[in-house]
Amino acid sequence: MKEELEKIREECQASLALAKSELDLSELRVRMLGRKGTLTQLLKRLGTLPESDRKEIGRQANELKRELETQIEENLHHLREAERKEALRKEKIDVTLPGRRKSFGKKHPLTQILDEIIQIFLRLGFEVVEGPEVELDYYNFEALNIPKGHPAREMQATFFISEDVVLRTHTSPVQVRTMEKKKPPVRVICPGAVYRCDSDPTHSPMFHQVEGLLVDQGITFSDLKGILTVFVHHMFGKETKLRFRPSFFPFTEPSAEIDIECFICEGKGCGVCSGTGWLEILGSGMVDPAVYQFVQYDREQVTGFAFGMGIERIAMLKYGINDIRLFFTNDLRFLKQF
Ligand code: FA5
Ligand code: MG
Repeated sequence: MKEELEKIREECQASLALAKSELDLSELRVRMLGRKGTLTQLLKRLGTLPESDRKEIGRQANELKRELETQIEENLHHLREAERKEALRKEKIDVTLPGRRKSFGKKHPLTQILDEIIQIFLRLGFEVVEGPEVELDYYNFEALNIPKGHPAREMQATFFISEDVVLRTHTSPVQVRTMEKKKPPVRVICPGAVYRCDSDPTHSPMFHQVEGLLVDQGITFSDLKGILTVFVHHMFGKETKLRFRPSFFPFTEPSAEIDIECFICEGKGCGVCSGTGWLEILGSGMVDPAVYQFVQYDREQVTGFAFGMGIERIAMLKYGINDIRLFFTNDLRFLKQF
């Protein structure tokens, strides 16, 4: 039994040296000190020894038991301590490090301009309405006094979906849709995307317009002039010179385009304004009575005016941008300037 005890001691020392985890240690404890553990079993058999050996071997066995218990406790303690230190090391926060800056997104320049336009007209008592981008030929052309086969259709290069369905070429169809639904007085603006088969530095195949429509009793061309002058002064500044230039649209009569004085040459004539000193910003006119007949308005009772402006063109004028395509290429170096 003496040799047996020696072997157990050696085994305990070897196992302790190898134990790397709490699990190893608790396995060792069970294997040696558990109810069926090697050392426990040996202690149980002490009674079978002759009395002379019993005392000495019993003392040694109990001593080994205590040593082993203490060793296991100590090793467990060290293991847990090491784990705690490692956890703390991983969680360490250096509060002196500089913070990480969040970069804020902002509105696209076109959205900023559109917001500005909408705010001006809201203050003038207009209401915002919208219409579909995929539109019936009827609303885009026919009800605006542009019959099939009429040469005025050539004014706008159209994307056709089918014979009767188009991508709207302007926001004017929303005028008709609004008047169909609502009796006068009507005072609306209609922002949205429009499409034309066009592409160069000042023409984009997809661009945006804001339509305006005001119909009531006794509306005259002076109302049109007044409202649009107020708009130009809010949008481009009080000092901005503007002019009303006679023009033609099938759905307005008379019609006028509004030009503002060229901001580059201040009216002297330069490359941007092709030597004229003026830049076009919108088309407008008194609603043609022919349009009222499509929406069952009494052309003897009401009059009104309408206008349509290109948002990209207004943004280009306001910020001095010479290529419309910059708005759609999403170059952050460009977009960050606004
Ligand atoms: C119209 O679209 C008319 N519906 C405007 C109107 C409304 C007149 C109500 C009378 C009453 P026009 O085709 O000129 O008109 O276009 C209006 C504006 O859209 C132009 O002044 C220009 O600023 C802009 N525009 C036209 N084509 C393009 C394009 N391809 N890319 C960017 N902007 C464009
Ligand atoms: Mg035009």
